[in-house]
Amino acid sequence: ALVSAKEMLQKAKAGHYAVGQFNINNLEWTKAILLTAEECKSPVILGVSEGAGKYMAGYKTVVGMVNGMLEELNITVPVALHLDHGSYEGAKKCIEAGFSSIMFDGSHLPFEENVEKTKELVAICNEKGMSLEAEVGSIGGEEDGVVGMGECADPQECKAIADLGVTMLAAGIGNIHGKYPANWAGLQFDVLDDIQKLTGEMPLVLHGGTGIPEDMIKKAISLGVSKINVNTECQISFAEATRKYIEAGKDLEGKGFDPRKLLAPGAEAIKATVKEKMEIFGSIGKA
Ligand code: G3H
Ligand code: ZN
Repeated sequence: ALVSAKEMLQKAKAGHYAVGQFNINNLEWTKAILLTAEECKSPVILGVSEGAGKYMAGYKTVVGMVNGMLEELNITVPVALHLDHGSYEGAKKCIEAGFSSIMFDGSHLPFEENVEKTKELVAICNEKGMSLEAEVGSIGGEEDGVVGMGECADPQECKAIADLGVTMLAAGIGNIHGKYPANWAGLQFDVLDDIQKLTGEMPLVLHGGTGIPEDMIKKAISLGVSKINVNTECQISFAEATRKYIEAGKDLEGKGFDPRKLLAPGAEAIKATVKEKMEIFGSIGKA
């Protein structure tokens, strides 16, 4: 059964590693990530953006698919199903639909309103045994229509939101969604350090995991990051492997046009990317 992300992230924070959140888009994505987590004996968080939820025919469809797979694929590692960058309305819908974890992204709201709405959702999630992620500052770039200016989080605001009783906290520290530009300034570790000093045991979340160099990932983990979100990198791996299959004309040989064959190289590529990330994050064998 699905679990809240609370216990796996508290363990990760105490054990100085991070749990990966990998965003899902369809059945192939979900299956590839779950099988890799099971093979690697790693806890995992499945991220669903509001756009991806719509694409997959709604949150209830997603819950049905994921719960079915946990049972039929005999998944024994801890799995959380998490709304990614949720609006207030989206959060309510996912709580209703049977998600086990929610991100309420009030980072674009006036700070007071972010506090009010986060507070209300903390109460609901506590009652239901669900985990809640809040965000302060913004993640640069764009993901599924969610656009951020990339301003660094104010550590005092982070403390104020952490004190509301959220499970984990995402803070903008120069991280960007999608590919990083060549002139990227890197993560602001001094800001991250200030945030971790003020928020103590709170597991911190690093968004925009695609393309962050390994040494920066490790340093971020050493400064309190215990959840890292990866989305674009799986999409790139999937697209590259699929393109290779088609360009080699494999879809024209035998039954190569069968979707079960056509989508298989992409699914294998997602598995390889997820495994590589789990190795870097240090979550292998922690389930
Ligand atoms: O919320 C999801 C992530 O922050 C993913 O970012 O697409 O840059 O890996 P990414
Ligand atoms: Zn994000």
